[in-house]
Amino acid sequence: MKLNGGLVSMEEEYVFAQAAQRARRFAAAHPDARLISLGIGDVQGPLCPAATRAMARAVREQGRRRSFHGYGPEQGYQFLRQAISSELTRRGAPVPARDIFISDGAKSDLGGLLDLIAPGGQALLCDPTYPAVRDDCLIRGLRVNTVAGSPSDGFLPMPPPGSLAPDVIYLCSPANPTGAVYTRAQLAAWVDYARQRESLLLFDAAYAPFIGDESLPRSIYEIPGAEECAVELGSFSKLAGFTGTRCGYTVLPAALCCRGVPLQALWRRRQAARFNGVAYVVQRGAAAVLGPNGRRQTERALAVYRANARLLESTLTEAGIPHWGGLHAPYLWLACPQGLSSWGFFDFLLEYGWLVGTPGVGFGPAGEGYFRLSAFGDPDTVELAAERFLHALDYLR
Ligand code: MLT
Repeated sequence: MKLNGGLVSMEEEYVFAQAAQRARRFAAAHPDARLISLGIGDVQGPLCPAATRAMARAVREQGRRRSFHGYGPEQGYQFLRQAISSELTRRGAPVPARDIFISDGAKSDLGGLLDLIAPGGQALLCDPTYPAVRDDCLIRGLRVNTVAGSPSDGFLPMPPPGSLAPDVIYLCSPANPTGAVYTRAQLAAWVDYARQRESLLLFDAAYAPFIGDESLPRSIYEIPGAEECAVELGSFSKLAGFTGTRCGYTVLPAALCCRGVPLQALWRRRQAARFNGVAYVVQRGAAAVLGPNGRRQTERALAVYRANARLLESTLTEAGIPHWGGLHAPYLWLACPQGLSSWGFFDFLLEYGWLVGTPGVGFGPAGEGYFRLSAFGDPDTVELAAERFLHALDYLR
């Protein structure tokens, strides 16, 4: 057997697993420490009543012969595809239901979409970036090129000059980990770049529901020409607390072709080989999230996370720590104080604040010296975390 070299080359643990390991070791050595996690971006739940009611109804249907559903349509049930299409259209990005593929979350499809690219191809990623994407590229045997973000561009890197013609480009806006959001003009520059080079642009919109400013784009399809180069990934995880329930979607427009081959047909074929769809019960829950009651209830939960992010943002301002994100995103990205390394600050916060965050270097080399805090938490806990954060900093002075 010849092993997959890309997989073998990923010698380090996934950053969230490493952080959890260190936190567990600390907790074992300090049994009195009540740790608070502002690390992995996991929601607090619960699912909204509209979703749980729809799922309960769907479970009852599954328990009766006449309403039972076996294998569903590979692309997803029409009721959910139509609901997503209406939602995107309402938000200014008209996407027909036929271009929507239901997934078990954006992460699975991000990796899966690389099956469209020949091994040995070139990928272009921002640095820092969502670490699963770099791993996906390595597993697929792609060569990874990066364009680094920095304080000078607000951690919103733009297309690099030069002759690189990437097969695939990955962008996330609002970005994980920095919480920075591209403007329309900036996304238009990326769309132009992708079209000129015939690159596939993977646009991760998992955090789009956090954008509260109408002038900022929530979908790549708000940019003219994007339907000819871009695939968009959406998720119910952060929108509606589906991290453990699993449902997302991929928009792959009919107009998207590579050398005359329509990618939609290829993706449909790939999905038929690799995927058996998302549970009927879950799809019913996701569709209910997009109904009038679901939207209202979900908005209330999002408002809590937004308020948490604002609190963390003002805490960092009070501490005089340079930071980004948090305004239209559930993440805050900060420069580690006193020139500490990312892991150095992780250990410091663990010891002096009993707080767990995510070291910026886990998102790429340009993240060294930075740190990410997540605003997914219940408000009392986030408030306590903010107090502990400020208190811990006293030990650095
Ligand atoms: C994160 O914390 O970056 C996310 O929760 C990870 C994910 O969505 O897979």
